[in-house]
Amino acid sequence: MVFILIIGANICIFDILSRQLELIDQDCYLQEEKGYIQHKFVKKQQLFQLNRLDYQLIQQNQMGNKNTKKSLQNTNKYCEINSFLKSNLEEHVILELVLNFKKIQGENLIIVCKGLERCTNVQTLTIHLYSCMIQNENLCEIANSFNNMINLTHLQLNLGVNKIGQQGVHFLGKALTKFQKLQSVQLYLYSNQIRNEGSYLIMDQLAQCQHISILIIEFSNNLIEDEGILNICQQLKRFNKLTTLKLLLYGNLVEQMRRQYLQKIIMKLNKLITFTLVLDIDENQIE
Ligand SMILES: *[C@@H]1O[C@H](CO)[C@@H](O)[C@H](O)[C@H]1NC(C)=O
Repeated sequence: MVFILIIGANICIFDILSRQLELIDQDCYLQEEKGYIQHKFVKKQQLFQLNRLDYQLIQQNQMGNKNTKKSLQNTNKYCEINSFLKSNLEEHVILELVLNFKKIQGENLIIVCKGLERCTNVQTLTIHLYSCMIQNENLCEIANSFNNMINLTHLQLNLGVNKIGQQGVHFLGKALTKFQKLQSVQLYLYSNQIRNEGSYLIMDQLAQCQHISILIIEFSNNLIEDEGILNICQQLKRFNKLTTLKLLLYGNLVEQMRRQYLQKIIMKLNKLITFTLVLDIDENQIE
């Protein structure tokens, strides 16, 4: 078992990583600002490595080393709604949508969802929706549009910096329980309006997906208190197949982390190989 604990000064690095991974990964957005790319070049490479690591883990889990290269080549990545809609929707197996900073509401939301509904073959879905002014009801519609992806196995949703609260995460969780083939789930929900109840509900529902082995979930910069963090950890016990867990919880309303309790729970996850926990700067270390 390998524990990676990132506490204290390293938070800053991870803060940058978790927030900018999505951004950095979105070449399409960055290409428009070449000066920005050059300025960030070194950082971009470092960040990309980490992102790749996560990605490779997932790919290997899916189909073993041999096919990793092939599947990377087959990734269909779209940065514009129109080019996505014009693509051969029924044929996508690995699909990535980069829609950051677009207003995913009204007509935009409707057409994106209609497109997603036709992607019946998708097994690996990544959607970047960083800072898209997404509210609860918008997230409901997005989650509903996954309905036809009956073989969905790997899901990554980057929903950072939106207006998502309890109803939104509850609905997303409920929608995901339908996908019993899910093996890896990455949900980046930082800087939203999630409280204790919301974080509990989504973890409770994810735990109902029996085959999740990789779980990366970020609740940083929300409104979760001690009770909520405790609830999140309690739900972890129910993930029987977990091998990789990354929990990012800093920037919430936690006053006193119950570290012994956390420690006990993590020890119970006996299949865990990699574990990363990011807490607040002032918290005591878990050893
Ligand atoms: C889902 O997976 C099964 C088994 O691998 C396959 O036979 C079926 O065609 C897939 N369905 C879709 C819609 O991709």
